[in-house]
Amino acid sequence: MAKIKTKTLLTVLLILFTIFSISTLTTAKKNHGFSRILSPAKLGLKREKLSHLHFYFHDIVSGKNATAVRVAEAPMTKTSFTGFGAVVMIDDPLTVKPQLSSKPVGRAQGIYASASQTDLGLLMVLNFAFTEGKYNGSTLSVLGRNTVFSDVREMPIVGGSGLFRFARGYAHAHTHTIDFKTGDAVVEYNVYVFHY
Ligand SMILES: *[C@@H]1O[C@H](CO)[C@@H](O)[C@H](O)[C@H]1NC(C)=O
Ligand SMILES: *[C@@H]1O[C@H](CO)[C@@H](O)[C@H](O)[C@H]1NC(C)=O
Repeated sequence: MAKIKTKTLLTVLLILFTIFSISTLTTAKKNHGFSRILSPAKLGLKREKLSHLHFYFHDIVSGKNATAVRVAEAPMTKTSFTGFGAVVMIDDPLTVKPQLSSKPVGRAQGIYASASQTDLGLLMVLNFAFTEGKYNGSTLSVLGRNTVFSDVREMPIVGGSGLFRFARGYAHAHTHTIDFKTGDAVVEYNVYVFHY
Protein backbone atom coordinates (compact mmCIF):
# COMPACT_ATOMS: atom_id res chain seq x y z
CA MET A 1 0.00 0.00 0.00
CA ALA A 2 2.72 2.44 1.05
CA LYS A 3 4.73 1.49 -2.05
CA ILE A 4 1.85 2.32 -4.41
CA LYS A 5 1.35 5.65 -2.67
CA THR A 6 5.00 6.55 -3.16
CA LYS A 7 4.80 5.56 -6.83
CA THR A 8 1.67 7.63 -7.37
CA LEU A 9 3.24 10.59 -5.63
CA LEU A 10 6.36 10.31 -7.81
CA THR A 11 4.24 10.11 -10.97
CA VAL A 12 2.24 13.18 -9.98
CA LEU A 13 5.45 15.05 -9.22
CA LEU A 14 6.91 14.03 -12.58
CA ILE A 15 3.81 15.24 -14.43
CA LEU A 16 3.84 18.54 -12.54
CA PHE A 17 7.53 18.99 -13.27
CA THR A 18 6.99 18.31 -16.98
CA ILE A 19 4.12 20.79 -17.21
CA PHE A 20 6.18 23.39 -15.36
CA SER A 21 9.20 22.85 -17.66
CA ILE A 22 7.12 23.13 -20.83
CA SER A 23 5.43 26.31 -19.66
CA THR A 24 8.81 27.83 -18.72
CA LEU A 25 10.23 26.93 -22.12
CA THR A 26 7.30 28.40 -24.02
CA THR A 27 7.51 31.58 -21.92
CA ALA A 28 11.21 31.92 -22.75
CA LYS A 29 10.49 31.39 -26.45
CA LYS A 30 7.76 34.02 -26.50
CA ASN A 31 9.53 36.86 -28.26
CA HIS A 32 6.57 39.13 -28.93
CA GLY A 33 7.84 39.37 -32.52
CA PHE A 34 10.57 41.95 -31.89
CA SER A 35 13.19 40.53 -29.55
CA ARG A 36 15.32 37.44 -29.21
CA ILE A 37 18.25 36.19 -27.17
CA LEU A 38 21.50 36.28 -29.12
CA SER A 39 24.94 34.88 -28.38
CA PRO A 40 27.68 37.60 -28.39
CA ALA A 41 29.58 35.57 -31.02
CA LYS A 42 26.69 36.08 -33.48
CA LEU A 43 27.44 39.81 -33.37
CA GLY A 44 31.15 39.14 -33.87
CA LEU A 45 31.93 40.11 -30.28
CA LYS A 46 35.04 38.35 -29.06
CA ARG A 47 37.09 39.31 -26.04
CA GLU A 48 36.39 42.56 -24.25
CA LYS A 49 39.44 44.83 -24.11
CA LEU A 50 40.53 47.91 -22.20
CA SER A 51 41.81 50.90 -24.20
CA HIS A 52 43.54 54.06 -23.02
CA LEU A 53 43.18 57.19 -25.16
CA HIS A 54 45.17 60.35 -24.59
CA PHE A 55 44.50 63.66 -26.35
CA TYR A 56 44.10 67.40 -25.88
CA PHE A 57 40.78 69.23 -26.05
CA HIS A 58 40.78 72.83 -27.31
CA ASP A 59 37.94 74.93 -25.96
CA ILE A 60 38.11 78.12 -28.01
CA VAL A 61 35.54 80.60 -26.73
CA SER A 62 37.02 83.82 -28.19
CA GLY A 63 37.64 85.26 -31.65
CA LYS A 64 36.26 84.58 -35.09
CA ASN A 65 37.12 80.90 -35.00
CA ALA A 66 35.47 80.10 -31.69
CA THR A 67 34.55 76.43 -31.31
CA ALA A 68 32.39 76.98 -28.21
CA VAL A 69 29.37 79.30 -28.34
CA ARG A 70 26.88 80.25 -25.67
CA VAL A 71 23.43 79.38 -26.99
CA ALA A 72 21.25 80.04 -23.93
CA GLU A 73 21.21 81.57 -20.48
CA ALA A 74 18.77 82.58 -17.76
CA PRO A 75 18.07 86.13 -16.52
CA MET A 76 19.98 85.22 -13.34
CA THR A 77 23.02 83.88 -15.24
CA LYS A 78 24.64 87.34 -15.37
CA THR A 79 24.44 87.85 -11.61
CA SER A 80 25.30 84.25 -10.65
CA PHE A 81 29.00 83.94 -9.83
CA THR A 82 28.99 80.44 -11.36
CA GLY A 83 27.12 81.62 -14.47
CA PHE A 84 24.33 79.25 -13.49
CA GLY A 85 22.07 78.50 -16.44
CA ALA A 86 24.55 79.18 -19.23
CA VAL A 87 24.43 76.60 -22.01
CA VAL A 88 27.35 76.29 -24.44
CA MET A 89 27.42 74.29 -27.68
CA ILE A 90 30.85 73.01 -28.67
CA ASP A 91 32.65 71.53 -31.66
CA ASP A 92 36.10 71.46 -30.04
CA PRO A 93 39.17 70.06 -31.84
CA LEU A 94 40.98 67.11 -30.26
CA THR A 95 44.70 66.78 -30.98
CA VAL A 96 47.58 64.47 -29.98
CA LYS A 97 49.72 67.31 -28.56
CA PRO A 98 48.81 70.45 -26.59
CA GLN A 99 49.35 72.60 -29.72
CA LEU A 100 46.24 73.19 -31.81
CA SER A 101 48.44 72.73 -34.91
CA SER A 102 49.37 69.17 -33.85
CA LYS A 103 47.78 66.12 -35.44
CA PRO A 104 43.97 66.12 -35.10
CA VAL A 105 42.30 62.96 -33.79
CA GLY A 106 38.69 64.10 -33.66
CA ARG A 107 36.20 66.58 -32.27
CA ALA A 108 34.32 66.93 -29.00
CA GLN A 109 30.77 67.76 -30.07
CA GLY A 110 27.95 68.52 -27.69
CA ILE A 111 26.92 70.74 -24.84
CA TYR A 112 28.25 71.93 -21.53
CA ALA A 113 26.12 73.88 -19.14
CA SER A 114 26.61 75.58 -15.79
CA ALA A 115 24.57 73.34 -13.51
CA SER A 116 25.77 74.41 -10.04
CA GLN A 117 24.90 77.56 -8.10
CA THR A 118 27.61 77.12 -5.48
CA ASP A 119 30.75 76.07 -7.38
CA LEU A 120 31.73 75.88 -11.03
CA GLY A 121 30.25 72.48 -11.92
CA LEU A 122 29.46 71.88 -15.56
CA LEU A 123 27.07 69.28 -16.89
CA MET A 124 28.91 67.73 -19.85
CA VAL A 125 26.85 65.99 -22.55
CA LEU A 126 29.00 65.31 -25.56
CA ASN A 127 30.42 62.85 -28.05
CA PHE A 128 34.07 62.39 -28.89
CA ALA A 129 33.89 61.86 -32.66
CA PHE A 130 37.19 60.34 -33.73
CA THR A 131 38.65 60.87 -37.21
CA GLU A 132 42.06 59.24 -36.96
CA GLY A 133 43.23 55.80 -38.08
CA LYS A 134 41.14 52.79 -37.18
CA TYR A 135 38.98 54.91 -34.87
CA ASN A 136 37.86 57.15 -37.74
CA GLY A 137 34.06 57.23 -37.57
CA SER A 138 33.82 55.76 -34.07
CA THR A 139 32.45 57.74 -31.15
CA LEU A 140 32.44 57.76 -27.35
CA SER A 141 29.66 59.40 -25.35
CA VAL A 142 30.33 61.39 -22.17
CA LEU A 143 27.72 62.30 -19.59
CA GLY A 144 29.17 63.74 -16.42
CA ARG A 145 30.01 66.54 -14.04
CA ASN A 146 33.02 68.73 -14.66
CA THR A 147 34.23 70.91 -11.76
CA VAL A 148 36.60 72.83 -14.00
CA PHE A 149 38.74 74.29 -11.21
CA SER A 150 39.58 70.86 -9.76
CA ASP A 151 42.94 69.45 -10.80
CA VAL A 152 41.52 66.20 -12.22
CA ARG A 153 37.85 65.75 -13.05
CA GLU A 154 36.32 62.35 -13.67
CA MET A 155 33.45 61.87 -16.08
CA PRO A 156 31.71 58.63 -17.05
CA ILE A 157 31.89 57.28 -20.59
CA VAL A 158 28.38 55.93 -21.00
CA GLY A 159 28.60 54.32 -24.42
CA GLY A 160 30.02 54.41 -27.90
CA SER A 161 29.65 53.46 -31.54
CA GLY A 162 31.72 51.75 -34.23
CA LEU A 163 34.83 50.23 -32.63
CA PHE A 164 33.50 51.49 -29.31
CA ARG A 165 30.20 49.60 -29.33
CA PHE A 166 29.20 48.56 -25.81
CA ALA A 167 31.83 50.98 -24.43
CA ARG A 168 31.86 52.00 -20.81
CA GLY A 169 34.53 53.66 -18.73
CA TYR A 170 35.69 57.03 -17.54
CA ALA A 171 37.57 60.11 -18.65
CA HIS A 172 40.04 62.11 -16.56
CA ALA A 173 40.29 65.77 -17.56
CA HIS A 174 43.13 68.00 -16.42
CA THR A 175 43.45 71.63 -17.51
CA HIS A 176 46.75 72.00 -19.39
CA THR A 177 46.56 75.77 -20.00
CA ILE A 178 43.94 78.45 -19.64
CA ASP A 179 44.03 82.02 -20.91
CA PHE A 180 42.15 83.98 -18.26
CA LYS A 181 41.82 86.97 -20.61
CA THR A 182 40.00 85.14 -23.39
CA GLY A 183 38.72 82.06 -21.53
CA ASP A 184 40.34 79.75 -24.11
CA ALA A 185 41.52 76.50 -22.54
CA VAL A 186 43.49 73.40 -23.48
CA VAL A 187 42.43 70.35 -21.49
CA GLU A 188 44.32 67.07 -21.33
CA TYR A 189 42.11 63.97 -21.47
CA ASN A 190 42.95 60.42 -20.42
CA VAL A 191 40.12 58.08 -21.34
CA TYR A 192 39.87 54.47 -20.18
CA VAL A 193 37.21 52.29 -21.83
CA PHE A 194 36.18 48.68 -21.97
CA HIS A 195 34.91 47.72 -25.42
CA TYR A 196 35.08 44.83 -27.87
C1 LIG B 1 40.55 81.54 -38.25
O1 LIG B 1 40.74 80.47 -39.14
C2 LIG B 1 41.23 80.89 -40.42
C3 LIG B 1 41.22 79.68 -41.33
O2 LIG B 1 41.81 78.57 -40.72
C4 LIG B 1 42.61 81.51 -40.24
O3 LIG B 1 43.12 81.91 -41.48
C5 LIG B 1 42.52 82.69 -39.29
O4 LIG B 1 43.80 83.21 -39.00
C6 LIG B 1 41.84 82.29 -37.98
N1 LIG B 1 41.58 83.48 -37.19
C7 LIG B 1 41.89 83.56 -35.90
C8 LIG B 1 41.51 84.83 -35.22
O5 LIG B 1 42.46 82.66 -35.28
C1 LIG C 1 37.83 59.28 -42.16
O1 LIG C 1 36.70 58.80 -42.81
C2 LIG C 1 36.12 59.72 -43.72
C3 LIG C 1 34.82 59.14 -44.23
O2 LIG C 1 34.94 57.78 -44.53
C4 LIG C 1 37.12 60.03 -44.84
O3 LIG C 1 36.58 60.96 -45.74
C5 LIG C 1 38.37 60.61 -44.19
O4 LIG C 1 39.37 60.82 -45.18
C6 LIG C 1 38.93 59.67 -43.12
N1 LIG C 1 40.00 60.35 -42.41
C7 LIG C 1 41.17 59.77 -42.14
C8 LIG C 1 42.16 60.61 -41.40
O5 LIG C 1 41.42 58.63 -42.45
